[in-house]
Amino acid sequence: MPTNPVLVVHGGAWAIPDDMVEAHLNGVRNAAAAGWRVLERGGSALDAVEEAVVVLEDDETFDAGRGSFLNRDGKVQLDAFIMDGSTLRGGGVGCVERLRHPVRAARKILSDSPHVYFVAEGAERFAAEHGIALCRNEDLVIPREVERLREYQAQASNHGNDLFAPTISHDTVGAVALDRDGNIAASTSTGGTLNKAPGRLGDSSLIGCGCYADNLSAAASTTGWGEPIMKLVLAKWAADRVESGSLPEWVAKEAMNYLKQRLNGHGGIILLDAQGRFGIAHNTPRMAWALQTVQKQEAGITRNG
Ligand code: GLY
Repeated sequence: MPTNPVLVVHGGAWAIPDDMVEAHLNGVRNAAAAGWRVLERGGSALDAVEEAVVVLEDDETFDAGRGSFLNRDGKVQLDAFIMDGSTLRGGGVGCVERLRHPVRAARKILSDSPHVYFVAEGAERFAAEHGIALCRNEDLVIPREVERLREYQAQASNHGNDLFAPTISHDTVGAVALDRDGNIAASTSTGGTLNKAPGRLGDSSLIGCGCYADNLSAAASTTGWGEPIMKLVLAKWAADRVESGSLPEWVAKEAMNYLKQRLNGHGGIILLDAQGRFGIAHNTPRMAWALQTVQKQEAGITRNG
């Protein structure tokens, strides 16, 4: 008996301003539609999360792919991870500067390599050797982000830790999916944090931190301030609780409470198990997400407080 597919995507958790709500909603809806096309025709959860994330990487609204935050040197430096819950195979890239769709390279690593990670030039070389075209870093940079970095650096002495406040954009994107065969998968992609030090790697591409998938527990993708999330290995923390019998809806909320209480971290999470039960939670003012099941399609910018 085939399983009813489910897909959940997110497009960041922070104080998304009113004038950016529509763009976020459109973005997550488009991503959900792309992932759903795969699931509808009987495709795999792995293909579905890849296609959903590609759409989000293409959308300049989000901190992933083109239009991402710039690092201290004014460059886009991207991280992504993808994981197959049926085999526990994963593929990740970190600090790549010449890939339009880092998730495509991550997927190639998962499928075509005995390894799990490639970073920087090695990742770009792996991608090129596997048929993925490289772009110039300038192709990923947009004027909005040049201006944002210029403003930030001009006021650098006024910034303390506020770079990591929930009011600052955390538009890391991700997707989790369940396919007809009952397999789950997850993917997360990001440009990281504004003005980050070159070479800084966030949680998104780290297995178990920003992303995880195991048919026996859950598929998870996180967004938000990466350092606290990775210290808590939060995606795996959440998946383990689902495996122990807790409902994803409850676990997602608990993960956000844990992040806040333990390290004063903030962000959001989407969580899905192989029975199609899901959770969407955040401890930031807002989060952009979309859900598609056989019965319904829903997208929202949920509010806290
Ligand atoms: N969550 C994205 C990052 O901190 O890099």
